[in-house]
Amino acid sequence: MRNYINKLKIDGELRTVAVAVDPQYELAAVTKKSQRQNDDAVLFSQVKGTAFPVVTNLFSSRRRLCELIHAEDGNFCPAWNRLLDETASMSWDGISTSDAPADLVTGKLSNLPLIRYHEKDAGPYFTSAIFLAKDPDTKIPNLSFHRAMYVSDDELRIRLGSTHDLTDYQRRAETKNEALEVALLIGVSPALFLAASASIPLDWSELALASRISGEAIWSYPARTIDLEIPQAAQIVVEGRIRANERRPEGPFGEFLGYYVPEAKNHVVDITSVYWRKEAVFHSILCGSSEDLTLLETVTAAKIYRHLNAVLPGIIDVSCSPAFMNTTIKIRQQYEGHARQVIMAAFGADLDFNKAVFVVDEDIDITDMNEVMWAFLSRGRVDRRTMIIDEVPGFYRDPHKDHWGRLGIDATMPFGREAEFERKLVPGEADIDLNDYFK
Ligand SMILES: Cc1cc2nc3c(=O)[nH]c(=O)nc-3n(C[C@H](O)[C@H](O)[C@H](O)COP(=O)(O)O)c2cc1C
Repeated sequence: MRNYINKLKIDGELRTVAVAVDPQYELAAVTKKSQRQNDDAVLFSQVKGTAFPVVTNLFSSRRRLCELIHAEDGNFCPAWNRLLDETASMSWDGISTSDAPADLVTGKLSNLPLIRYHEKDAGPYFTSAIFLAKDPDTKIPNLSFHRAMYVSDDELRIRLGSTHDLTDYQRRAETKNEALEVALLIGVSPALFLAASASIPLDWSELALASRISGEAIWSYPARTIDLEIPQAAQIVVEGRIRANERRPEGPFGEFLGYYVPEAKNHVVDITSVYWRKEAVFHSILCGSSEDLTLLETVTAAKIYRHLNAVLPGIIDVSCSPAFMNTTIKIRQQYEGHARQVIMAAFGADLDFNKAVFVVDEDIDITDMNEVMWAFLSRGRVDRRTMIIDEVPGFYRDPHKDHWGRLGIDATMPFGREAEFERKLVPGEADIDLNDYFK
């Protein structure tokens, strides 16, 4: 991650904050304002109460994500799916064993930046922590994101989503009345970060995926107190065990949808060791910000793209921006009704998130909802191009059924009438440099 920070600095995509900032709200407030201005990463060199510098907004740009997987043409979905295909064919778990780095420093949780993000959060949270765990039966390693509430130097609390792999591992360990060993990795290489966002079958290794992304071995060393191998590229490591059959209050916390999730009884992690690489940089993620959502949107879009391409022709690209419960699909129409079939297939491609599905023609920018709505409103009747499927559950954490139902919108032009919808063009506009005119 430190190499990546240096690269962004050289490329002019890193802002540095030299004044000391308060980890209580101020750091998050500066992050939020900076994100409104641009996609630059932000490095806070002094954070009150800790010796660690803090970096944020590293992975907020779709362009940077494309670069990291060598999709320089901007087509994330096919490049990501090629990496997944290569991972599927690997029997290797992705780990290459090495000695522990010589520069490890031992400490405690409260040495780390204890950042409070939102007014009503129950406490400080670690929001970029990647949980490394092994499938209790197959021992295949898995990486996944779960924010963790700081309670004391000995205890963190986490909220596990019902569909996550870590939840499945924990349940299986719990049925044997066993704690699940986990390592929280904070400040990892871009390859590990991207791999952790993937939801892939349980028998594929996300460390193998990270190795495919970076093209390098994931050198790892034995953890100090648990049976896991820690990637050398992790700047900060927190080892612990998720207790079996114990839940304690966690939250409220300001979540990705922009609201607070209320306090609930959630899982408890007992901390067994905390250490870091000398000169470590702590990674902070503002939940629900572009850094949190861009990657999640992009990998969710790639999953839907994969599914659609397996069942239908003419699928060009998929985007889940601006809020990843939305899916927009770009197609080259092949027959009358094609877009409606794409909507039906998309509903089945991700049962949690694609609450609204839009289908557009290939000239539309699918990351710009203004263009998408313009296409819907200008290319045909609204009453015949809207599909509502009621009484279908959506997002798994939904006590009041607020995420039930599906909305499908065919925003394509009528099949066979393309000539009538030719977009008007002002010749020469693309080549105009306004500096030649406004002097
Ligand atoms: C930057 C980032 C942060 C995330 N944070 C959380 C989180 O705090 N809690 C959560 O339930 N999911 C979070 N997610 C979503 C998923 O947990 C995540 O994609 C997960 O790693 C999927 O892994 P799995 O399929 O191995 O369970 C986050 C995703 C990203 C990309």
